[in-house]
Order: sequence, then C-alpha cells, then structure tokens
Amino acid sequence: MNIKDMLMSDETLFKDEQVFNPNYLPDTLLFRDKELQALVSLVRPGLRGGKPHNTLIIGPPGTGKTTTVHFLFDEIQNASDRMVPVHINCKLSNTKFTVMSEVHKKIFGHRPPETGVPYTRVYEKVMNHLDRKGLSLLVALDDIDFLFEQKYANDIMYDILRAYEQYPRVRTGVVAILSREDFKEVIATKLYSIFMPQEVTFPPYSLSETYEILLKRAQAGFFPGVISQELVEHIAELTASQGDLRVGITLLSSSGIIAESHAKRKIEREDIDAAYEKKARFVTLHEKVAVLSAAERQMLLEIATDKDVRSGALFERMKGSFNKKSFSQALAKLESYGLIDSNVVMMGRGRSRVFTPRFPSEDILAVLKDFS
Ligand SMILES: Nc1ncnc2c1ncn2[C@@H]1O[C@H](COP(=O)(O)OP(=O)(O)OP(=O)(O)O)[C@@H](O)[C@H]1O
Ligand SMILES: [Mg+2]
Repeated sequence: MNIKDMLMSDETLFKDEQVFNPNYLPDTLLFRDKELQALVSLVRPGLRGGKPHNTLIIGPPGTGKTTTVHFLFDEIQNASDRMVPVHINCKLSNTKFTVMSEVHKKIFGHRPPETGVPYTRVYEKVMNHLDRKGLSLLVALDDIDFLFEQKYANDIMYDILRAYEQYPRVRTGVVAILSREDFKEVIATKLYSIFMPQEVTFPPYSLSETYEILLKRAQAGFFPGVISQELVEHIAELTASQGDLRVGITLLSSSGIIAESHAKRKIEREDIDAAYEKKARFVTLHEKVAVLSAAERQMLLEIATDKDVRSGALFERMKGSFNKKSFSQALAKLESYGLIDSNVVMMGRGRSRVFTPRFPSEDILAVLKDFS
C-alpha cells in the first residue's frame, strides 16, 4: 500500500480505540464489589445530610482505586442530591486554590477566574452554598502524596474538614487515595488530629481476575476474532508479572497497532512480544518518570549512568540545579518513588552515601529519552 492508500484505508482492528485510553471508564467494575461495599458504608451517612467518614484507600498502582471511586461517585450522584462528591486529581490540582476551584466547578458548573479572585472568596462562596442548601461535601483527593510536595496537604485538609466550625450546617468528608505504602506514615504524622481515616485496602488482582478484565476490555475495543483467548492469557501473564493492569491495557492497544501496521487481520504472539519489549514493560517506570521535574530526571540519569555514585560527587555535578536542601529532597523523592536505592558505605575513615538505580539502566535511559 502507498501512503495515500494507507491514510485513506478504513480497515482497522479497532472497534473502539477509546476503550484503551487511560481515562476510559469501563461499563462494569469487576472484582471490586467488596471494596465498593466498604466505601459505600463509609460515605453513606452523607447521603442523609450527615458526615461521611474519612477514608484512606490504599493499594498498589493499577489496582482500580481511581476507577472504583468514579463508580462510587456516579452512584452517589444518582442516589442522592444531599451530598456533593468531587474527585480531585492531585497530580493536576495541588494547591488550595486549584482544589477549591474544582469543588466550585462541581457545584456551579464552572471554575472561578484564575486571577483576581482571592481564595477566601471562592471558599466562602462554596461553603455558603453548601450551608444554605444543607448539603454534605465529599472530596476524593486522588494521589494525595502530590499534595505533600507542595506542602499544602495540611491546609487543604483543614479547610475542608473544619468547615463546620464556621459553617455549622456543612458536613464534610475526605477520601484520600494512595498507592505508596511508605506515605501512610507521612499522612499519619503530618495530618495527625485532622484526618484519622478508616482504611480500605485494594489488593493486586490475581492472574485469573487480570485475564477476565483484559478479555472484557479486548472485546469492547477490538472487532470479533482480532485477538484469541490464548493471547489474552499471554497478556495477562505479562501483566501479572508487573502487577499493574495498565501494562495489559497498553499491551492490548500497542499490539493491535503493531498488527495493523503489518496489515494483519489478527494480533499474533510476536506482536504482543514486540509491544512488550518496545513499550508495555516500561509502563510503570514511565509513570514514575513522568511526574519528575527536568532537574530530577537529570539526577536520575546521572545515577543510572554512574552506578554507585557517591553523594558528594553527585552533588558536584548537580550544583547548577540544586542547593543542599533541594538536592536531598530530590534524592528522597527518587528513593520514595522506588527509582533508586541508597546505601551507606565506609570511605577511608568517614562514611558516604552511594546511589544505585532500581531499574535496569538501559530501561531508564530509554524512558528518559521520551522526555528529552
Ligand atoms: N475492576 C476493574 N474492571 C475493569 N477495569 C479496571 C478495573 N480495575 C482497573 N481497571 C482498569 O485498569 C486501569 C488502572 O486502574 P486505576 O486507574 O483505577 O488504578 P489505580 O489503582 O487508581 O492506579 P494508580 O495507583 O496508579 O492511580 C484503568 O484503565 C482501569 O480502567
Ligand atoms: Mg489512580
């Protein structure tokens, strides 16, 4: 086929490509009944105008936490007009103002102007409205660890959860969503006294659960016969080895694209293996690198190319981008994201910290290339 024919061709393996988008909400939520039930009973008081319980959802990446909360919030919206559920992506909204503008948007249908309106005015407008109407507010702070980087977590929690002090009729609750186990301690210490949540744990999906979820997704996204059940099983195995359902969803769509580019009518095993090598096995690493700043990526690059680099030597190289304090903060961030390890070694009569990458260097370099 020449380029023109290829561009005009409407032959495709995909019935609906949207199905593989990161934000796609599946029709049905599989294997999360227990977790959904637990969440329903925790937030239920809010449906009658009471106070929803504060909740912490915790579980590894790609275990359906965000998806389950979307289902829950849709159900709440259908069931009651006494509680306003607002989902906040803290990767995108991580200041008091941006969080409160999302609440404003949910209530009034639009965000307040970004300049000229002080935070307190937005806050008062939101709370006055809830107070007048006797509504409860339930805010999900998804990926709440991002609030701590900006150090606003405390203020935001306080403003939401202590609203009743100023607005006695307003009942509020927070559902915090977290994938990093190491951050539980941070929440417990830093938010002590404001936020003492009930916990709901999201375990990883088993191999057979992974298979069923992926099979359903494949059936929704591909035309019949494009992928066999055996190959979905193969994808499920590769996915389970990484524990993140996104690996499988990426594998489905990427192997479809590869098969299509070879003008095949069906996905073959070699297409899946090629997609895994090229893209899908990097999904977890990619997600972690995506949220780093340019300087932090540079630091990761240094550590990946010079294994066992010492703290002093690394600082010398990174001096242009960091001072002592921000240097240690960036190292702590890379370590808590599971990107690097640090060890203390004896050097002569003193001690020094050395850093090593947690992923193979060539994988890190390949992923960093996507961001350069
Ligand atoms: N039970 C399920 N049924 C169908 N699809 C699911 C289910 N659980 C997760 N998914 C799909 O897997 C992908 C990852 O799920 P989700 O974003 O909810 O994970 P998460 O636990 O929030 O991960 P992270 O901690 O990285 O934010 C999404 O594309 C979602 O549609
Ligand atoms: Mg999520």
